[in-house]
Amino acid sequence: MSYKIAIVYHSAGGNTKALAEALASLLPEAELFRTSEFDTGILPEYDALIIGTYTWGNGELPAKTAAFYAELEQLPISHLKTGVFGTGETNYSHFCGAVDHFRDMLFAKSQLLVTLKIEQMYQESDLPRLQKFASLFKN
Ligand SMILES: Cc1cc2nc3c(=O)[nH]c(=O)nc-3n(C[C@H](O)[C@H](O)[C@H](O)COP(=O)(O)O)c2cc1C
Repeated sequence: MSYKIAIVYHSAGGNTKALAEALASLLPEAELFRTSEFDTGILPEYDALIIGTYTWGNGELPAKTAAFYAELEQLPISHLKTGVFGTGETNYSHFCGAVDHFRDMLFAKSQLLVTLKIEQMYQESDLPRLQKFASLFKN
């Protein structure tokens, strides 16, 4: 059976979407989902879950991501290798705070491999970090 990876992201303005698509292009076997269309019921079939989110409020999760977080927190996900990436802006006091929220929960509940924080739209100079992130999910 093949190694199954889901990339689940939420993006309002497109920065996190672009980053999710860049990671998906580095992991051709991965399936890309928007958080709002993702059914957590399929997670038992997956080996890895990669979550992407921007940050809102004062270092907080956007509402759609918060609902996904709350659902995930209740599920058995110890079999999953996980990663979390996000975009944010360093001029806010809690840069990519949403990534930190997921990191803490995923560290406790799953096999967290990596996190990644990117300033707004990823740049070519970020590619080595994206490649490093993706390489950890290659089976
Ligand atoms: C009202 C508001 C609050 C924000 N709060 C934060 C924050 O606390 N920390 C942070 O790193 N970025 C914050 N941001 C910046 C966004 O997370 C950033 O622009 C992100 O790249 C947007 O992603 P998207 O284009 O995928 O929607 C905030 C943006 C807005 C408009």
